[in-house]
Amino acid sequence: MTQCWRFDTPAQTLVLASRNHRLPEVVYWSAPLDEGEDLPTLVDSMYPAPTGGTLDQVQPITVCPLWIDGFTGVQGLEIRDQNGAASTLRLRYDGEDRFDGGLDLRFADADLGVLYTLTARVYADADVLALTATLNQTGPGRLAWLSAPVIPTGPRVDEVIEFAGRWCGEFQLCRSSLAPGARLRENRLGRSAHEHFPGILLPSRGATETQGEAFGITLGQSCGHRHVIETVPDGRTQVQFGPTPGQFQGTEGTAGPLYLTRSDQGFNGVSQAFHRYLRRHALIYSEPARPRPVHYNCWEAVYFDHDIETLADLADRAAQLGVERFVLDDGWFGARNDDTTSLGDWLVDLRKWPSGLGPLIEHVHARGMSFGLWFEPEMINDDSDLARKHPTWFLGPRDQVPGRHQFVLDLAIPEVSDELFSKIDAILTDHGIDYIKWDHNRVLPFPDPRQAEALYALLSRLRAKHPGVEIETCASGGGRIDFGILKHTQRVWLSDSNDGQERWQIQRGASYFIPPEIAGSHIGPRVCHTSGRTLPIGFRAAVAGSRSMGLEMNLREFTDYEAVRVRSEIAAFKERRALLHAGRLYRLEVTDKQVLAEMHVAEDGAQFVVFSGQVQPSAQGQARPVCLSGLDPSARYTIQLTNPGDIPAPLNRGPRSPLHRGEGVTLSGTVLMHHGVQFPNAYPNTIWTLTGVRQ
Ligand code: DGJ
Repeated sequence: MTQCWRFDTPAQTLVLASRNHRLPEVVYWSAPLDEGEDLPTLVDSMYPAPTGGTLDQVQPITVCPLWIDGFTGVQGLEIRDQNGAASTLRLRYDGEDRFDGGLDLRFADADLGVLYTLTARVYADADVLALTATLNQTGPGRLAWLSAPVIPTGPRVDEVIEFAGRWCGEFQLCRSSLAPGARLRENRLGRSAHEHFPGILLPSRGATETQGEAFGITLGQSCGHRHVIETVPDGRTQVQFGPTPGQFQGTEGTAGPLYLTRSDQGFNGVSQAFHRYLRRHALIYSEPARPRPVHYNCWEAVYFDHDIETLADLADRAAQLGVERFVLDDGWFGARNDDTTSLGDWLVDLRKWPSGLGPLIEHVHARGMSFGLWFEPEMINDDSDLARKHPTWFLGPRDQVPGRHQFVLDLAIPEVSDELFSKIDAILTDHGIDYIKWDHNRVLPFPDPRQAEALYALLSRLRAKHPGVEIETCASGGGRIDFGILKHTQRVWLSDSNDGQERWQIQRGASYFIPPEIAGSHIGPRVCHTSGRTLPIGFRAAVAGSRSMGLEMNLREFTDYEAVRVRSEIAAFKERRALLHAGRLYRLEVTDKQVLAEMHVAEDGAQFVVFSGQVQPSAQGQARPVCLSGLDPSARYTIQLTNPGDIPAPLNRGPRSPLHRGEGVTLSGTVLMHHGVQFPNAYPNTIWTLTGVRQ
């Protein structure tokens, strides 16, 4: 007997099949099937034949492959008894429940009191599916590993793209060929981490940014994850994703949601689906119609050195440039003159702020900006009143190695979460604050999913009480970015690197999953504090102006030219913000490796903006044309270079094309996509910005 279930979005169908009440397997995940497809025939036609030297049946890669079923690869679930021995589970169909937008499928082992539930949710309008595995066990034992429902790779997939990184170098792509054996990535840092963004891309042979079949998978949990990509000896490949093993405390656990999407439009199609999912189903803004504000963050201007005259002056300058939200970063609380003290003491430091924060907030509001404040709630310093009062609230042993001189609070202790709630609530209640930058500057002493669950609960509680307050997820930059935290936050501090050149690459890596409007990007100091590199203002401004724009530097360092340029770049950003923040993002394919280009096309196709960045000098003399994407081939578009003033004369001698003179030029979509745009020859650290309007 075969049972089948199918899940459809416009660009994909996923079919699950269970034989004889056993755990189901994904028998099809690819292009959308029509309604009449005969699923039992599809399943039977896929039935593989055993070959020599193997068992008498080819064991399916089920959503939770188990050795008891004859599968010899990595198991999808491991329960260990008190002696450490693995339990032998026989999970059989136990019923199902449909709910609006999805389905729960239950499989039970009655003897061991184990219930495995697969929850499937369909986000058809986003082209995304979400699969979750939940395990409940009434008997003794310890859940040592639980994968979200396991996905086999498609028949034309022979490579995987993963993401790695470091502080100031997040979202680096790692591409490798599938090969016999298991490739394992295990993040034991207790947060999604700079090093291990929990997502992968699977290209079918020949897929590129703009064309071909590509798949995307990402785990929506913030506690650290493990993934396994295993090609078993018979050549099939399974993909497992779950919270880091060994961290479940008892016999219950959840792995997922695991978000899946597929596209025939290459990686850009995958990214656009993930962006749509986040926009429509995850991100909860306090005022959805309000544009994402331009930020000023004072961190790299003053660090811990707070005084109201300086900050009020910075606020004046920020307002004059067009900033809409002023953020007071670390250093306003306890007795915090540096990073060695006071985490946990969330009371305004009256030495620095004798009249409290009120006067600065009023000053900021009077200049038409809203006010944001930095917290790092999950952390504690030894040198804090909180540690002196509650020495038992630390997560892990007291003799552990600190990180940035600090330790982690055990949020799963209800009193800890209550204390944090009441302290943050008091600050929010007493002040006109509409934004929190929520930082997390060290890894956990050990992975503990209760910590992330308690964090989500604390964030929900705060937002329920203060629905007008938005939150940015920050963890020394991009150390906690994933689809789990994004249900509770509205912006990501993508990186501590304000070096435009690094940032341009980090932004591109992040764009596979993260839409531009939530990726915070700030114009940093002329000499970057984390790289020592000096970069021109036009470049720094364009990098920031392609995402959620902000500034983070001593505004007093601007020359007159820089101030004028920044003011005009902010004004231009505001003009194109609606398009940038709701449009379709296309990473463009440029054969010149030193050029990283992207474009954003309005949903209705009426307008677009292109950013083409020259990162290093090119190998060849002439700039290669940049082919656009996502346009209507038969439509005509008027394109215009917005920054012809950045054209370096020595590299562009002689007569200039109308485009390079800053004039509007009208061409067809076919020309723009197949022949491309001939940008001027550029110095490194230049971004050409081109607008396009459909005629
Ligand atoms: C790390 C963050 O990433 C920085 O932006 C800044 O907020 C510091 N922490 C403050 O301590």
